[in-house]
Amino acid sequence: MLGNGSKVLIPDRGFDGVVIYTGRLKGSFLEGNILIAESGSPIGELISISIKHNLSGLESLVGIPGSIGGAVIMNAGTRYGSIGDIVETVEFINSEGTYIVKSSPYFEYRGSEFRGERVVLTRVTLRLKGASSDEIREKLSLAVLLRKNQPKYPRQFGSTFKNPPSMSAGRLIEEAGLKGFTYRNVQVSPVHANFILNFGNSADDIYYVINTIQDRVYRLFDIKLEPEVNLIGF
Ligand code: EPU
Repeated sequence: MLGNGSKVLIPDRGFDGVVIYTGRLKGSFLEGNILIAESGSPIGELISISIKHNLSGLESLVGIPGSIGGAVIMNAGTRYGSIGDIVETVEFINSEGTYIVKSSPYFEYRGSEFRGERVVLTRVTLRLKGASSDEIREKLSLAVLLRKNQPKYPRQFGSTFKNPPSMSAGRLIEEAGLKGFTYRNVQVSPVHANFILNFGNSADDIYYVINTIQDRVYRLFDIKLEPEVNLIGF
């Protein structure tokens, strides 16, 4: 099940199976303060709609390249708020083919009841709040500021690993001496060590870097870094 694929890694040899891609489900509309969006809607477009209508709630997601469905499944966000905070309902098709509307689904740090499940998200309903354009602009600036140390280019996933409880994955990787580590065309960002920069075209090389980081951090600090990235078929 693929949204925008922003946090997905598939081996170079390919994936032996069927991919269901929701990228064409892009419709969205407002009912008062409620934004109803099909799962493939790009996050950026939904933020634009909410700004245009003086509605607040999505600001913390600014700059995330993914689809709203992927963002909901992974509970994307920053330390000041995640998408799960404003989700009213999620509509999905389960593995038996039944269409389900779920109110107040469960969310946790970078996870939800849908993560890892065989479900196709079709629509989400988000509860936004009326706000002045100054208020919204302020929240957007704060979210942009939080991402100041995050590289945008070349292709990367955003954070590669989840932060272990009360620790920073980026700091651990830096302390392990891997900031700037380069393997073939893949580099651990010299700016933010939890970002892996892909200058090439090989998922296997990226996977090698992910493994190198996990091994070294485990050896040095006895901490198992858990990928935030969805590794499919490795
Ligand atoms: N740090 C280092 N070295 C580094 C990187 C970071 O020492 O190379 C330190 C920073 O100095 C800071 C601490 O680690 O004291 C935390 O870093 P930062 O503020 O950059 O936030 P983060 O914990 O790395 C999290 C989310 C981001 C989100 C930002 C902003 C996770 C795994 N990542 O990053 O989410 O944008 O906070 O709130 O929770 C994402 O999930 O893809 C993502 C980008």
